[in-house]
Amino acid sequence: MITLVEEARRALGSARFVLVVTGAGISAESGVPTFRGDGGYWRDRHFSELANAQTFAHEPQLVWEWYLERRRTVRQCAPNAAHVALAHWAQKRGHDGMRLVTQNVDGLHERAGHPEVVRFHGSLWRNRCTACGREREDHALELEGPPMSPCCRALERPGVVWFGEAIPPFALEMGFDAAGRCDGVLVIGTTGVVYPAASLIEKARDNGANIVEVNPDEDYGLSGEGVFGGLWLRAKAGEVVPGILGEE
Ligand code: OAD
Repeated sequence: MITLVEEARRALGSARFVLVVTGAGISAESGVPTFRGDGGYWRDRHFSELANAQTFAHEPQLVWEWYLERRRTVRQCAPNAAHVALAHWAQKRGHDGMRLVTQNVDGLHERAGHPEVVRFHGSLWRNRCTACGREREDHALELEGPPMSPCCRALERPGVVWFGEAIPPFALEMGFDAAGRCDGVLVIGTTGVVYPAASLIEKARDNGANIVEVNPDEDYGLSGEGVFGGLWLRAKAGEVVPGILGEE
């Protein structure tokens, strides 16, 4: 593994601009459950049913209870070595040298001190007014019932992207801009099956960028290559990301 870490460090160290794409796996060592592992169910409901506008329309209380439970879980978690290393490295490289796109809504990159995070799926810590779409920061951990917006006195929904919904346009633009001009990509802790996040990596790969993938799952990718055909480190993020970035 030492040699692979060195190889990855060289591949990304020589890149002028690096796109980093993170998924639920980067927060696993912090104690945040991933989606497709054992954490895929809550009260016998699958996450794809809970993260869903149709379910919210009929059972807003249930959906809010799930999000509040996730807030309480995440509140007790701290950024791990991978979040911290990425944040330090990003501060050094600056926004001309890297961009982070995350599919996570937990806010752990931000809590680690990451300067700019492109959030594809929104934030667990934001509420959106269902009448006008305005969002506000909210850190409530308990609620009597679904919250109402201060702007329109209408029902609020979690400020996250649900199944079948579009990625916020600005985040999408930032992601594809980075994918179009990066020459290195670091993919951490995602199954790589959810689009359009996966298409960022495919676009960068098709442009010839060096790809490094970190995922401990032995079924990730094919015959020694990762899902995106990059250099695959079969390890937990917290164990190898600091070394890859030279931030041990
Ligand atoms: P998943 O839960 O689908 O996958 C997590 C990935 O992280 C798996 O491939 C694991 O093998 C890997 N993993 C587990 N522990 C790890 C560790 N310690 N270090 C590195 N990797 C580890 O999560 P995502 O791929 O992020 O979207 O899921 C993408 C999206 O699917 C989510 O954002 C969510 C869901 O639909 C929405 O809610 C809109």
